[in-house]
Amino acid sequence: MLIVWHSQSGASASLARAAWKGAVEQGEPVCLSRAADVGATEIAASAGLLLVCAENSGRLAGGAKDLLDRVFYPLIERRCTLPYALLVSAGNDGRGAVEEARRIFRGIPFTEAVEPRIIRGVPDNEALAEAGELGAAFAAGLSMGIF
Ligand SMILES: Cc1cc2nc3c(=O)[nH]c(=O)nc-3n(C[C@H](O)[C@H](O)[C@H](O)COP(=O)(O)O)c2cc1C
Repeated sequence: MLIVWHSQSGASASLARAAWKGAVEQGEPVCLSRAADVGATEIAASAGLLLVCAENSGRLAGGAKDLLDRVFYPLIERRCTLPYALLVSAGNDGRGAVEEARRIFRGIPFTEAVEPRIIRGVPDNEALAEAGELGAAFAAGLSMGIF
């Protein structure tokens, strides 16, 4: 399982770390990587992708969009179809980023394993716990082969 994050303020980064902690507690190997350091090879080598990023100006944050732009055709050429999960950090909305990500993932195509989560505001302990639960649920589902 691969958790990829892009973050400017640290909000998405903290959510990604919390998701990673939840996932590793399931006993499965989990990589945590910055979007800028990831390409199609790393994604194709994983069992599933959890993308953690912000909504900026009603869309996916640029660093996350850059990743998906870079890997879109290479993943299609590899016929790589993976389950994915999405965790969006937002100020007061987040729905535009979810919609954009869903549209891109449908095109590869990746399968939405769990309902995308939006965390609004600066992540507090409750939000970090929610991110941890998402990471754990995704990792558990992957290890059981239910996605
Ligand atoms: C340039 C910019 C645009 C933003 N646009 C939105 C937006 O359209 N909707 C929203 O809910 N939050 C918006 N926000 C707030 C961020 O989504 C929020 O602060 C998020 O936690 C940032 O996470 P990050 O710093 O880890 O990338 C914006 C923030 C910035 C810097």
